[in-house]
Amino acid sequence: MLTGKLVTFEGPDGAGKTSALNAIVAQLQPQLGDRLVVTREPGGNQISEAIRNIILDRNNTAMDDRTEALLYAAARRQHIVQTIQPALDRGQLVLCDRYLDSSVAYQGAGREIGEQAVYDMNQFATKGLTADLTLYFDVDAAVGLNRIQQHRQNEINRLDVEALSFHHRVQAAYLQLLADHPERIKRIDASQPLEEVVTQAIQIMTTKLPTYMATEGGERE
Ligand SMILES: Nc1ncnc2c1ncn2[C@@H]1O[C@H](COP(=O)(O)OP(=O)(O)OP(=O)(O)O)[C@@H](O)[C@H]1O
Ligand SMILES: [Mg+2]
Repeated sequence: MLTGKLVTFEGPDGAGKTSALNAIVAQLQPQLGDRLVVTREPGGNQISEAIRNIILDRNNTAMDDRTEALLYAAARRQHIVQTIQPALDRGQLVLCDRYLDSSVAYQGAGREIGEQAVYDMNQFATKGLTADLTLYFDVDAAVGLNRIQQHRQNEINRLDVEALSFHHRVQAAYLQLLADHPERIKRIDASQPLEEVVTQAIQIMTTKLPTYMATEGGERE
């Protein structure tokens, strides 16, 4: 019986999620080939990428917090239906840059809508689809923001420019999620050099998804 797996990448802005994901894919691609699916939230398909542009546009200063939360959930719904679930049904390993925990942390805690309220609202979108494994890239909020300021000036979005207190609430919510879901969420010290971060991430994936990661061209569960 084929069972796909969903691995999500979470953490504060500038933690190195996307950098690590790209490096992990480069390492796993020769072994996993077309069993690997790489995607991101909000986005992953035409409709969700269009929603992404609305959410992240720095000109959309009038956006209500709950509108923002609903747009993320709408993008997630389309992403699941169009991309994630079909891949899981094919038995693929889906690596997703951000997922539900981001909504709980950013809209629930950052925007102060409430973590539980945002989680509950998202159940309508996900119909309960939960990540099999979540890699939490743990870095102090200020360090992450500093990395973005230093290296990614041209890509700063509407959430990156929030006050440091916003990003501290996000980080605290992530740490609470980590404490609440120790089996699903694994912490990686993302203050280390990228190479170390990637090694640690692959070690965790190997431990948690042995049938996927173990053998060349390997078996599936
Ligand atoms: N371990 C690391 N040490 C130092 N710099 C890093 C590390 N990982 C990534 N960076 C740099 O920090 C910046 C942010 O990294 P990246 O875009 O991967 O973060 P992210 O977590 O995907 O951020 P966002 O949440 O905004 O998408 C990039 O310029 C990247 O080169
Ligand atoms: Mg990123």
